[in-house]
Amino acid sequence: MVADADALARAAAERILARLHRSAGRLAVCLAGGSTPERLYELLAGEPYCNAVPWNHIHWFWGDDRFVPHDDARCNSGMARRLLLDRMPVPSGNICPIPTSVENVEEAARRYETELRRFYGAERLLPGRPLFDIVLMGLGPDGHTASLFPGHAQLEEKIRWVVGVPEAGLEPFVPRVTLTFPTLASTREMLFLVSGPSKREILTQVLAGADLPAARAYSDGELVWLVDRNAAPERRDVTRTQPLPASEGGQGGR
Ligand code: 6PG
Repeated sequence: MVADADALARAAAERILARLHRSAGRLAVCLAGGSTPERLYELLAGEPYCNAVPWNHIHWFWGDDRFVPHDDARCNSGMARRLLLDRMPVPSGNICPIPTSVENVEEAARRYETELRRFYGAERLLPGRPLFDIVLMGLGPDGHTASLFPGHAQLEEKIRWVVGVPEAGLEPFVPRVTLTFPTLASTREMLFLVSGPSKREILTQVLAGADLPAARAYSDGELVWLVDRNAAPERRDVTRTQPLPASEGGQGGR
């Protein structure tokens, strides 16, 4: 647990850098939307972090987006570009947003799935060969994560890598496109960022094992919840870590 939203952003920046420096060659980062990661993105664009990020090697993807134009204030990729990517020396071909100017969310999902498959170099996600190095996740007040909302059919999807969400379960009520659980799980590390008192109640439920989308999220690598004091349930250790695969060399445990 960390003290506040600033400390959360710093802790996340440090975890991300540590993770990126553990891998060599091409790197893939999957970003989250919502307001919580905004401080993190701003922080990564400033010193000292900006000097430590291997900008040339990272390919940037998104876990979900709202089906609005990229310059719409509600667009997740637009937000990350404004606060981080457009301010840094990122090769333009390394920025891979979910397309939102196509006909509908199904078409957007198909295209993004094709793009992810091409990047990955295989038609199926293989155990031991993660698609991403790091996946950022948020927690919605109803327990959703990415655009995987409680009670929605997309929660059960095991084959598709990306799906359309014609109706969002929460504001902003615009259609969404989201990676599915198995795709998000194909990562060396999944990092949840949770901040503020409005998240305390739902986080308590998630950590108690309620059947909510965020509680269903899993990672083939490490799974870390970074939580600030305002969001943390009373008297509880909220850092939950899955056992690490042998290749990561860790013991893990909850
Ligand atoms: C989105 C998100 C969503 C978000 C959570 C938390 O597009 O809405 O990707 O899953 O991460 O709703 O959002 P906040 O950080 O704004 O609370």
